[in-house]
Amino acid sequence: MNIVFCNGKGGAGKTTLSALLGCALVDAGRRVAIEDRDPQRTATRWIEETGPGLEVAVKDQVYDATIVDTPPRLDSPLLHEALRRADRVILVSSPSPADLWTSQDTVKVIREHYQGDKAAVLFNSVQRNTTLAKELPNLGARLDLTVLNRQIGRRQSYQHAMLLGWSALDAKAREEILQAAIEILTF
Ligand SMILES: Nc1ncnc2c1ncn2[C@@H]1O[C@H](COP(=O)(O)OP(=O)(O)O)[C@@H](O)[C@H]1O
Ligand SMILES: [Mg+2]
Repeated sequence: MNIVFCNGKGGAGKTTLSALLGCALVDAGRRVAIEDRDPQRTATRWIEETGPGLEVAVKDQVYDATIVDTPPRLDSPLLHEALRRADRVILVSSPSPADLWTSQDTVKVIREHYQGDKAAVLFNSVQRNTTLAKELPNLGARLDLTVLNRQIGRRQSYQHAMLLGWSALDAKAREEILQAAIEILTF
């Protein structure tokens, strides 16, 4: 299964969530690779530095899931090609209104290049019990895209994990990531 993570803007959390959701699935016994389509190669370097488990995708290898991390540019042919080959598309979006406008533009590009019906928004960096968090289902409806029920909270440990690897996460953070990963595979 080919799962594309996208957003036209940098900083939404595409690379962080590609890496962590991949690790959660590896923990759950799946063989998972990241296809790193961002020329900055952050996901590839992260895998190389933080050790075994999650793999960097190799052509013609078969994985249970391949997570495709994409560049933060809506005019990128690397993004368009990934969308054409996708089984599922996850728009990673922060809940802030300014970011939602970029997300609306991203939805247009998804519709242009992805023919399937398995595209959804995953809200990232959500702060619980805030007005924005409560508004998320409505904001998602404005995007005209399936909204995943699971959200990813804003946690410092997710930044630590980008430095130290999956082992930097405590059980609660891992569970949050795993539940989102399961929903992505099954929505
Ligand atoms: N849920 C989160 N909680 C805290 N920090 C986060 C979270 N998601 C992403 N970040 C941080 O935000 C920054 C941008 O994330 P990144 O994954 O590189 O975004 P993108 O790949 O979309 O450009 C990184 O410093 C990352 O550690
Ligand atoms: Mg990135």
